[in-house]
Amino acid sequence: MEQLNIGMIGGGFMGKAHSLAYAAMPMFFWPAPAVPNRKMLAEIDEDLARESALRFGFEKYTGDWRKLVEHPDIHVVDIATPNNTHAEIAIAAAEAGKHIICEKPLALDAEEAERMLEAVERAGVVHMVAFNYRRTPAVALAKKFIEEGAIGNILNFRGTYLQDWSADPNGPLSWRFQKAVAGSGALGDIGTHVLDIARYLVGEIVAVNSVLRTIIGKRPIQQGGQDKLGASQKLVDAPKATVDVDDEVITSLRFSNGALGTLEATRNAYGRNNFLTFEIDGDHGSLYFNYERRDELQVFFADDPADRRGFRTIYTGPAHPYGENLWPIPAIGIGYGETKIIECYEFVKAVIEGTTVSPSFHDGHRIAQICDAIVESSEKQTWVDL
Ligand SMILES: NC(=O)c1ccc[n+]([C@@H]2O[C@H](COP(=O)([O-])OP(=O)(O)OC[C@H]3O[C@@H](n4cnc5c(N)ncnc54)[C@H](O)[C@@H]3O)[C@@H](O)[C@H]2O)c1
Repeated sequence: MEQLNIGMIGGGFMGKAHSLAYAAMPMFFWPAPAVPNRKMLAEIDEDLARESALRFGFEKYTGDWRKLVEHPDIHVVDIATPNNTHAEIAIAAAEAGKHIICEKPLALDAEEAERMLEAVERAGVVHMVAFNYRRTPAVALAKKFIEEGAIGNILNFRGTYLQDWSADPNGPLSWRFQKAVAGSGALGDIGTHVLDIARYLVGEIVAVNSVLRTIIGKRPIQQGGQDKLGASQKLVDAPKATVDVDDEVITSLRFSNGALGTLEATRNAYGRNNFLTFEIDGDHGSLYFNYERRDELQVFFADDPADRRGFRTIYTGPAHPYGENLWPIPAIGIGYGETKIIECYEFVKAVIEGTTVSPSFHDGHRIAQICDAIVESSEKQTWVDL
């Protein structure tokens, strides 16, 4: 069986998630399209790289990502670093002929994303952007039902992504609150996941009417390091600096097929943790999903007899997308790790077969355009067409 040598850049939250997926993918998807070989890890310095490589099972390490990108043994470059680094790394990796999986959001803005897309197309390498929530089996089941026409023509999409880890004003000003590093706040960090699901399930987004808001204007400065999200130490006495990204986005969406939708994303909704939801109404039924209950898809079919109509819950298992490869009993428990394992499988398969894979840099670029339009719409207080 072929071996695919992985070079991973970044050993934080996503470094952990991707390493787990490379190790576990052949355990779930067997025979695997190829066995990922955790070859080299790059971090910001040698010490962190050595520690991360040991922890995540990589053979070699470097404190300079360029050495990883240029290394002849590396087949795949995995970009798991903050958003402002994605473009430079991806363009260099494409020029070195490496296949690329890049964390979301693809870039700081559409202009950067376009340069990345041009680079991978010019190089002819396989490219993927890591919107993994669409790999949740219940979300893939919703896709199957929509494609089968089970809920008819789609009329409405209502998506939310609500978290509360940034609701405390003493939570540190990590990279996620700096425009130069993150590009945007809740919009790029979590809103983009919902935009990916909306495009995946409903269709292309062609107009937006949006409001962005920053609720907590200043935060205590974090001195470098990984973003620990909700687990961050609260820096009550540290000097503060200005937050220049949004805490919240609310937008109307118009789809090319005539459907209308909404998206609300915030990291300041106390009591909500990873409340990524969508409800989709068609002219023959409805679907509802909540990531906090990710084994479940709620379905309503209008053709059910009138005396037993109502939302019912399907627990995903072996009968559903990816189910045969996961666990043998429905509702035994799908986690974040499984979404990354499935994403890894789809990516490795595309590399080995020489095909394209979704979501690609095309999707990442389009979502960057939609995000730019959302920002423009909020500034101009009007609909913006794409
Ligand atoms: N798909 C998802 O669900 C999901 C979830 C979280 C984060 N992300 C995305 O993943 C990316 C990384 O986020 P994270 O949560 O892992 O961040 P993190 O802060 O936990 O880790 C980032 C790591 O990158 C390292 N790094 C920074 N610059 C580097 C450089 N030039 N060279 C080598 N290493 C460098 C840092 O030292 C740190 O260890 C971001 O783009 C983020 O938006 C995606």
